[in-house]
Amino acid sequence: MENQHIDTQSLTQLCHDVLTENWRDGYTVPTSELYPFQWLWDSGFIAIGWSHIDMNRARLELKTVLDAQWKNGMLPHIVFHNDTPEKNYFPGADFHGASTSPNVPTHVKTSGITQPAVIGFVLEHLWNTETDPEAHLDFYRKAVEQTFRSHQYLYRDRDPENEGLVYIRHNWESGVDNGAAWDSVWARYSVPEYELKRKDISLISEEQRPTKKDYNYYVHLLKVSIECGYDEGLMYEKLPFIIQDPLFNAMLVASNESLCRLADKLDMPQVVAQTRIWNQKTIARMNEKLWDEEQGVYVYYDLKNNSVIPMPGAPGMTPLFAGIPSAPQAQRMIDKMESSAYSGENNSVFLCPTLTVDHPEFDYCRYWRGPVWININWLIYKGCVQYGYTELAERIRQECLQLVARYGAYEYFNPLKSAVDNPASKGFGGVRFSWTVALLLDMMAAPTGETQRTI
Ligand code: GLC
Repeated sequence: MENQHIDTQSLTQLCHDVLTENWRDGYTVPTSELYPFQWLWDSGFIAIGWSHIDMNRARLELKTVLDAQWKNGMLPHIVFHNDTPEKNYFPGADFHGASTSPNVPTHVKTSGITQPAVIGFVLEHLWNTETDPEAHLDFYRKAVEQTFRSHQYLYRDRDPENEGLVYIRHNWESGVDNGAAWDSVWARYSVPEYELKRKDISLISEEQRPTKKDYNYYVHLLKVSIECGYDEGLMYEKLPFIIQDPLFNAMLVASNESLCRLADKLDMPQVVAQTRIWNQKTIARMNEKLWDEEQGVYVYYDLKNNSVIPMPGAPGMTPLFAGIPSAPQAQRMIDKMESSAYSGENNSVFLCPTLTVDHPEFDYCRYWRGPVWININWLIYKGCVQYGYTELAERIRQECLQLVARYGAYEYFNPLKSAVDNPASKGFGGVRFSWTVALLLDMMAAPTGETQRTI
């Protein structure tokens, strides 16, 4: 594959067009048909995109997602702002059954699960982008307060042994919905066949989406959660899926660090002190419990089975973003990414595949089981810059640009470069995808050498 000349002007235009098209009244949908509501970590990444176009929209995006906070502090993963009927989206608000909990907000319907805690570091990014941050102190104070409460919720209700590592209780909470890491969890038990009114597979080719069998497991976790009235203690006892996830904990660490710095500027000493304490513990525990020296990647811990899930791939590389690995650990991660398992022979693979290309479960087109995602790449790119691996960072940045320039603003991409020369090959999943363009804008705005450490 030849490196294509990138017309950054038309790529920038595409990014602006997609974000503008996906903007609704106060929030941005990830993509109009497949995901017609507001998603938590999408909104964070999208706000970074807006910060390059319109700071008012960037702030509003976060305000809207934060205002859907539950009474116990949880930020829900979906905010169902409109009454899109179940026939247009599955599973909708009623299927999630969050209203069985006394903690739901009253002004809007939401899901009963959360997603990676990206809002803290996004807030700091916005603050650093403001021309006059002092003019928006009320917004930042309130947003820091709400985000801090969401972290308090995670440490209080998701870390019962007070280890410093929080758990997720649904695979959708990981953001990496269909990752191969979950296979070993599903293999431990069986679930009923549910009636699934899936809309996704009428929009997207089935081989790019989760299998019916896997989907039954996802729905089962919702059913059990509803039976528990979304009570955290009961769910911890009854749910078969209780996982300490490296990406999820890494995002929390990055956001703690950002909240700490922001709170210092905003004169919120309690937030400064608490986020420091949390981070010392979480970073140490991640390195003790989730680091896999052999694979050079952070892995998962299954608390219901008391076992490590050693899954290699891009999500386990994201702790680089949060400054968690030591210098030798970071070197090991970089060596792995440059090896054929990630990069293919002679760099024949676009970094960074969600599963190593030599893994038996690698699938170039199925959701999270091989394809490249721009949000994960952005995290790894930033991580590489912070650790001084500018060459690898620049390669990742360039490859993101190449992928979108060649295929379009898709949700995920074939990591195999050999596919690029085939005119029939396309990007995968949703089209005109918001976080793809939002983070591409950010990467175009900051060529690698000039990138500042913002987290
Ligand atoms: C998919 C992704 C998830 C994302 C959502 C909306 O479910 O797996 O990470 O938040 O789509 O884009």
